[in-house]
Amino acid sequence: MALEDAHGAHNYHPLPVVLKKGEGIRVWDVEGKEYFDFLSAYSAVNQGHSHPRIVGALVEQAQTLALTSRAFYNAELGPFEKAITERFGYDKVLAMNSGAEAVETAIKLCRRWAYDVKGVPANQAKILVCSDNFHGRTSTIVSFSNDPDSYGGFGPYMPGFERIPYNDIAALEKALQDPHVAGFLVEPIQGEAGVVVPEADFIPRAAALCAAKNVLFIADEIQTGIGRTGSWLATCGNCQCGGGRCERQAATYVRADILILGKALSGGVYPVSAVLADDGIMMTIKPGQHGSTFGGNPIAAKVAQAALEVMEEEALMQNARARGEQFRDGLKARIGHLSLIKGIRGKGLLNAVLINDSPESSTAWDLCMALRDAGLLAKPTHGNIIRFAPPLVISAEEMDEALNRMEKVFTSFEQSH
Ligand SMILES: Cc1ncc(COP(=O)(O)O)c(C=O)c1O
Repeated sequence: MALEDAHGAHNYHPLPVVLKKGEGIRVWDVEGKEYFDFLSAYSAVNQGHSHPRIVGALVEQAQTLALTSRAFYNAELGPFEKAITERFGYDKVLAMNSGAEAVETAIKLCRRWAYDVKGVPANQAKILVCSDNFHGRTSTIVSFSNDPDSYGGFGPYMPGFERIPYNDIAALEKALQDPHVAGFLVEPIQGEAGVVVPEADFIPRAAALCAAKNVLFIADEIQTGIGRTGSWLATCGNCQCGGGRCERQAATYVRADILILGKALSGGVYPVSAVLADDGIMMTIKPGQHGSTFGGNPIAAKVAQAALEVMEEEALMQNARARGEQFRDGLKARIGHLSLIKGIRGKGLLNAVLINDSPESSTAWDLCMALRDAGLLAKPTHGNIIRFAPPLVISAEEMDEALNRMEKVFTSFEQSH
């Protein structure tokens, strides 16, 4: 910690615990103390820490061929592209590395489509976004954030974005009147804002409104995708993803025009992100107009393919659904009555506990410190909200043990304050 403090930029405020090893839902610190990881690297480690199959793909590919750049073809990218486009039902994929890069890619695709296909006059395309969004940290992305920590002091800001309230169909309908609107970029559940789950019909209605106005519906599923909310994607709605079959239930399934994935696309062992779209959108970008030295490299392709296979083979979507219900029901029964608790919400294994205190208070942080001491790692998001998002491989017994630890910590915290 002292070394990071002395030599690293202070752009994070980590919980004081120094981790050295991870396996499944468990991590160990440098002194050998074991913890349940209830953050999962912000939902990147859905398949569990150091999943042997995914790590195996990484090691084998690293020993064979790591990087060619896209100046040449590589033997792994094509098979991965076929697998992921078939998995999610799109014509094409564009592979990048970090989530923010994938969001940037989606923005560029949307603008290019607006000019080349929709016929928006040059440089006037507008993309709608939501208040309290979190889509990453680049200068373009922070330009449309309303979180002063994200955007403050980083201007001048990129034009061409309009923010509307989240979960507000009337506001969307009004904003869509502008013929220069090219896209609506949205998180199906707002993770960083505190696991804000919109009305069940918000996403389907928003997508339908966009379709009616010839506006691209762009789903940022970097945090919510890859099983986190109990189906392959949060936009899959009520689909159970049983036996590898896509149900596409008419009432709740939404197919985004542009789908953005990252984080758990690699099981957390390597930075891999991806943007999926059909040819009418994707083919507007020509050679030389977008790319990345590392995007689509052989390690990334091999690792991501393994990570997707693990999701399916271990039925992790279904487990996320069942364990998520166990978590919310169990927690409500055990600590829901405490005056410390303002609410418990979430979907699948993306959940949050709202602490009954002001966002400026240290209560959520103090609780996370007490949870750490009890062997469970979680982190406040936005002041008084604690996010709980364990790897999707968690068993019913492990979840029960986690609930025991949380009950003890919350109950004794309430008694002593
Ligand atoms: C919804 C969403 N979009 C984009 C990002 C940015 O991803 P990255 O940190 O890999 O750039 C995140 C990261 O937390 C996210 O949750």
